[in-house]
Amino acid sequence: PNNQRQHQSESAAEHNPLNSRALSTRRELYERDFPVYKQPVEVGSFSLDSERRFFNDGRQMRYYVEPERNPNFDLRDGYKDRFVKRDDSVKEKLDHVLRWVVANRSKLNSRKTSASSCALDVDFVTWRGHLTKLLTTPYETKEGWMLAATKFRGTIYISEVETEAARRERENRTERHKEMMYWGYKFEQYTCADNVHGAPDPGGVVNTNEAFCTVVQTRLADHRLLFSGEVDCRDKDPGAPAPPACYVELKTSAEICTPKQRSNFHRFKLLKWWAQSFLPGVPRVVAGFRDHEGVVVSVETFHISKISQLIKNEYNCWRPTVCMNFCCDFLTFVKQTVTEDSPSVVYMFSWEPRRDVTFSVHRDSQFSFLPHWYVEEMTR
Ligand code: A3P
Ligand code: MG
Ligand code: MG
Repeated sequence: PNNQRQHQSESAAEHNPLNSRALSTRRELYERDFPVYKQPVEVGSFSLDSERRFFNDGRQMRYYVEPERNPNFDLRDGYKDRFVKRDDSVKEKLDHVLRWVVANRSKLNSRKTSASSCALDVDFVTWRGHLTKLLTTPYETKEGWMLAATKFRGTIYISEVETEAARRERENRTERHKEMMYWGYKFEQYTCADNVHGAPDPGGVVNTNEAFCTVVQTRLADHRLLFSGEVDCRDKDPGAPAPPACYVELKTSAEICTPKQRSNFHRFKLLKWWAQSFLPGVPRVVAGFRDHEGVVVSVETFHISKISQLIKNEYNCWRPTVCMNFCCDFLTFVKQTVTEDSPSVVYMFSWEPRRDVTFSVHRDSQFSFLPHWYVEEMTR
């Protein structure tokens, strides 16, 4: 019994609502029952066009066209002459999500009481990609993160801030790495059509400004979440289930030739793929396996619900429950910490591998991220 108590107080220490200044990311602390995660419901979608302009509709939706099992797609084709790359030095923060919120506010106020009619009925608004980073944190050994949080009218907004290390990485990418980043988008072009009866056009331009984003609402334990994520394409069958169940995530990965490569694929790649698609309820990932010259030699479908089975023979592998419990406890930690309700106050949560999550508070700083147009619109 003594042991038991000690064990409990160890895991609870970081979660004491009154005195926690830091949150542990040690895996053992999150090995418990899977938390409640409600089926995500799509509440809307939006599009970003070839010039990164926002549209409150699904015009950029694409349709999945199943390729041959062994297709020989050349992913290097067009890199030099048919590629328009999004400028990733431009930090858009939550702006597109906030634009969607402003345009769709009425859909979010489910409780029509006078007390809550001005506020969104959610605890957190963020990008899916930020939550993916949280899910994988207990297993991440290389890249840290910074997440800025601001409470405004009872809702906490979470927006990523690029770390110094990430900025250096981005500014010092090798030519080979830059080309490889194109390959994933080129695979999308080989497997997606612009309209339901169309065919893919591998001769066209790849423009990474273009995006279709779903907006979903769900709940993780007692955290009501609203987040948006980019969706690669959908099942074109008119009998397909409603979104997000009809969505398909596309991925590329190096061809697997050895048991070691298979093990690494299970341990590292499938963790990221699972986390990204599980969150918005996207049920499958279509993977193109490519050789060193960037030629897709095989295509395989992975069902998100079957991934935990696939990895269970790997020794000391990642576990979905650890990912979800850590995310849940992080959001609890954020709720306990972010107490001042003001659009100009930022609580900066920072994490580096092998460290605890810590935070600092910034008033009227360079980190404030809620735009004036948003604050004014929501104060009406
Ligand atoms: P792959 O997924 O085939 O690697 P997403 O898969 O999320 O839809 O992203 C599409 C493509 O964007 C990726 O294709 C990859 O080419 C590129 N990409 C996305 N995130 C990246 C990152 N953090 N680093 C490098 N490339 C990235
Ligand atoms: Mg994508
Ligand atoms: Mg993809």
